[in-house]
Amino acid sequence: MIHFKLAELRKKNNLTQQELGDILNVSYQTISKWENSVVFPDISVLPQISSYFGVSVDALLGLVPLGEEYSPSNSGTVEYWNQRLDYLKMTRKSMWNEDYFQFLITAVWNINKPITVLDCGCGYGALGLLIMPLLPEGSKYTGIDFSETMIESAKKIYRDSGISAEFVLSDILSYQPKEKYDMVISQAVLRHVDDGERFLRKMAEFLKKDGILVSMECNREFEADGLYIRGMDYSRLCQHEGLNKLWQTELQRQNRDYSIAMKIPHYMKKMGLKNISTRMNDRVTFLEPEQEMYDELLESIIKADYWDDEKTDAEIEADISYFMNHGMSRKEAEDYCRQQNGIVKYLKKNREKAAITKATGYMISYGWKV
Ligand SMILES: C[S@@+](CC[C@H](N)C(=O)[O-])C[C@H]1O[C@@H](n2cnc3c(N)ncnc32)[C@H](O)[C@@H]1O
Repeated sequence: MIHFKLAELRKKNNLTQQELGDILNVSYQTISKWENSVVFPDISVLPQISSYFGVSVDALLGLVPLGEEYSPSNSGTVEYWNQRLDYLKMTRKSMWNEDYFQFLITAVWNINKPITVLDCGCGYGALGLLIMPLLPEGSKYTGIDFSETMIESAKKIYRDSGISAEFVLSDILSYQPKEKYDMVISQAVLRHVDDGERFLRKMAEFLKKDGILVSMECNREFEADGLYIRGMDYSRLCQHEGLNKLWQTELQRQNRDYSIAMKIPHYMKKMGLKNISTRMNDRVTFLEPEQEMYDELLESIIKADYWDDEKTDAEIEADISYFMNHGMSRKEAEDYCRQQNGIVKYLKKNREKAAITKATGYMISYGWKV
């Protein structure tokens, strides 16, 4: 299939169909037919069109991105997170086994007296809701986030929770705390930011001497492999050749590291922390229709991976352009979109009876400040 980019180029250059027709010596009706894929121009016209717009013939045919300019992933921005409250609320339901966090607190970190906790990039405070009831009585929680939507929601949620908590609206990178903390923690933040190492170093500045730094992040490759939907082909579900190129491109272009989880203990070592160690979050979701909370958990899985709606052709084409801009070939981008759309269709058809195993493979790295 040909993905002729004529309309996109014409609009970018503020030309009407008539004006472009005059330039190329054809009628505006012909331009309209070309743009709507009713017919295609003769191959001999392609060099003329591509040289007029200053793009390659490959770009004109949608085989490589139109603009060479890389459009950075925006998941490290306030604007992005201000739109993601519902997404976050849905996806926090199946991240932890509470007993495992209890085990970390008591048997691994040996926390047996009240502590102060700073949660960096706290979102609406999901982590505080999980850990504060598990920590010794008298512990205090501070959540910090640069998204107004998240902080407002956190304040509402905690108002009547009985948890001793406060929330600060600030960018971590410019935050100047009044006090230092016994525990500085973050979950699913470093994977989204540019230069995760800098972020982690900043977190360590907020620690008291002998305080513990905890960072919980996923490794995208583990995550991409950790999915089985009964009735679908596992090997197809976990193909990520194209994704790998996208991750590499984002790493090179904006230092956004898909494998940050694997590097965190090494960064901690470089920062001079002691007794550094790493564990895996042991949560694996096994979902069967007869289970309690089936609908809620299925919804949470669907939301986490944006499998709610089948995409229109135009949306798919926009995704393909984005993926190509982030290093995938046209074929890899098409395969990936087809695979994702296949999951959407499958889950829609099997809404009442889908059975899934999902392991996110979050790594928990920690070390103490000297
Ligand atoms: C994936 S969410 C995780 C939220 C929370 N830790 C959780 O697990 O529910 C990432 C959060 O980090 C916040 N964030 C990202 N970069 C930040 C920065 N530089 N300063 C403060 N917050 C930041 C975002 O606003 C968002 O709420």
